[in-house]
Amino acid sequence: MPDTKQPSFQVVVLDDFERVNTCIRERLHSDVSLVSKISSYIIQSGGKRLRPLLVLLTARACGYKGVDHIPLAAIIEFLHTATLLHDDVVDKSDLRRGRDTANALWGNAPSVLVGDFLYSRAFQMMVKLENFQLLKILADATNVIAEGEVMQLMNVHNANVTQAHYMDVIRCKTAKLFEASTYTASVLACADKTTENAMAEYGNCLGIAFQLVDDLLDYTGDSEAMGKNLGDDLAEGKPTLPLIYTIANGKPEHKALVRQGIQKGSLESISAIVEAVRDCGALDYTAKKAQYYASKAADALKALPASEYREAMEDLARFAIERTH
Ligand code: IPE
Ligand code: IPE
Ligand code: MG
Ligand code: MG
Repeated sequence: MPDTKQPSFQVVVLDDFERVNTCIRERLHSDVSLVSKISSYIIQSGGKRLRPLLVLLTARACGYKGVDHIPLAAIIEFLHTATLLHDDVVDKSDLRRGRDTANALWGNAPSVLVGDFLYSRAFQMMVKLENFQLLKILADATNVIAEGEVMQLMNVHNANVTQAHYMDVIRCKTAKLFEASTYTASVLACADKTTENAMAEYGNCLGIAFQLVDDLLDYTGDSEAMGKNLGDDLAEGKPTLPLIYTIANGKPEHKALVRQGIQKGSLESISAIVEAVRDCGALDYTAKKAQYYASKAADALKALPASEYREAMEDLARFAIERTH
């Protein structure tokens, strides 16, 4: 990873984390050079590695003593990376993790196909774990993520999307993989049903908070810190919560401006739109909603015995809402 300083929530599983990175490097191998090139490019460019971290922390917090949490964490990062390769094609994004996207460098077709390679490599690795319950959770999660991305695609340029529908989309496209990370880790650790449910709830709520903040940062963030271009959502005509709230609660002229922005899908009026969104309290509203889900996530952790891992998971819930990248 290019990041030099380790966040506090990473420190408690640092050795495991290094093992995950080694496993990722080893399992990326393909005899087809373009596959290796593109998959290494996106994986080596880092990213926050939050989902594998969730696997490691949850497994340890649930008392796991085995070694399968390492490949499980790598599997989940592969699934995540596959969704990013596909997502950047769909969103026509050209910056990811501070670098040109794979689609910008090699084009759409190789990005989609290498995304498929990563998905299928993840499934090969799952089969090797010989744990049918894990396979089922991850197969279901992958399927739901794909549905979430399609649901979102169907709503591009639609200024009438409701908040409830938006919440469904982010639950599917983002929170599902967070949930699968913590749920599978608790299953691996043979936790009891109550703990499994609490871990699934933690992952789901954390994922929702995380995506709400992502959608907020698309209007208020700093491109360099994020390693992504700002305004990508508006440029694609994606109706995210800041816009949905403004259409429902803004001044009449602001409602019209935002509706037009979504319908057109252009950055032409971005500064006026940011002002409209700020003016009606949509940014505060989105931030508050993220805080609500992050605190629900933290509440779910009460099912766990106290440990440095549980504390790290609490820190992670705070990071999800305070993050700038
Ligand atoms: C990006 O996820 C996709 C979203 C769910 C917003 P991350 O922000 O976790 O991406 P990386 O892995 O750190 O690059
Ligand atoms: C990402 O959604 C969700 C998935 C990758 C499934 P976004 O499109 O909002 O994520 P970014 O902003 O490109 O990272
Ligand atoms: Mg995107
Ligand atoms: Mg985004």
